[in-house]
Amino acid sequence: MAVLVTGGAGYIGSHTVAALHERGEEIVIVDNLQQGHRDAILGGKLYVGDLRDEAFLDHVFSENEIDSVIHFAANSLVGESMTNPGKYYHNNVYGTLCLLEAMNKHGVKRIVFSSTAATYGEPERVPIAESDRTMPTNTYGETKLAMEKMMKWFDTAHGIRYVSLRYFNAAGAHESGKIGEDHSPETHLVPIVLQAALGQRSHISVFGEDYSTEDGTCVRDYVHVSDLADAHILAVDRLRREEASAIYNLGSGQGFSVKQVIDIARAVTERDIPVVYEARRSGDPAVLIASSERARQELGWEPKRDKLEDIIRSAWQWHLANPQGYAKA
Ligand code: UFG
Repeated sequence: MAVLVTGGAGYIGSHTVAALHERGEEIVIVDNLQQGHRDAILGGKLYVGDLRDEAFLDHVFSENEIDSVIHFAANSLVGESMTNPGKYYHNNVYGTLCLLEAMNKHGVKRIVFSSTAATYGEPERVPIAESDRTMPTNTYGETKLAMEKMMKWFDTAHGIRYVSLRYFNAAGAHESGKIGEDHSPETHLVPIVLQAALGQRSHISVFGEDYSTEDGTCVRDYVHVSDLADAHILAVDRLRREEASAIYNLGSGQGFSVKQVIDIARAVTERDIPVVYEARRSGDPAVLIASSERARQELGWEPKRDKLEDIIRSAWQWHLANPQGYAKA
């Protein structure tokens, strides 16, 4: 029996494929390669295509014996989601509907879902618990919440059980050095800071120095991508034990400001990282920190790489060895 990984050529997807492969799982990957990279796939069988292509998905489910799905495939740029919401409803929400319909048709009853802290919006309190209010401040988060709710009703009607994993800020790279973070365009803090360290950017623009935090910059909860990958495997195991659907936050429970991230990156890289302070980026909450107690207790999740310095060092090793990412020189 195989695990189907949608979006398995993407950043978190490829690290999860690597972890599944290390564990000896049979893996089938579906990716349209719009954001993903063929070279990021370290195991399994790749089908290049789109979830919204019914005949394609039917073919994948018919050709393989799939017992569980891990669903990453989605657009995930907060800014873009605000200027082009239709793209996010179409690819994320409609794509998930197509996937669930195909699972139902082919009798596949388990799905692990790639969700986000953006489902909460501006938090009422930190650390954030899964039971806290969900009121997204951007279309991206809204579509992820809609996808979660869709899964709930497919569970009620068709018995397709789900585990939704709400990640906080994923960072870092695989310990093998073979895979890492490579988005185009890049919008995330850690890779942008490291690109500045490499001299690929003149500076890092810090968005807002007037937040009500200790040093005025936004605070986030950074979690190593391989720890996220491990959580997906624990979630598949939970569903294979026939336990109920659930939602889990995944974060380290520790907050670091943008300035602290830059300082740690300076220490790790031993390079100059020039900073320019700019206006706030719209839609950025001041502080996002996860309570991951539920994931620890119910999934047995134990992040192993939880020092931010180590997370940034693993990302730095990837950036040093692959300054152009997956692009061929
Ligand atoms: N930041 C900068 N300069 C940059 C990039 C980011 O100052 O060039 C700041 C942001 O304003 C924010 C922090 O660094 O305060 C982290 O920003 P990221 O873009 O790296 O991450 P976000 O916290 O905005 O977003 C992440 C995921 C989203 C997810 C969100 C949940 O990337 O997919 O967490 O809140 F929706």
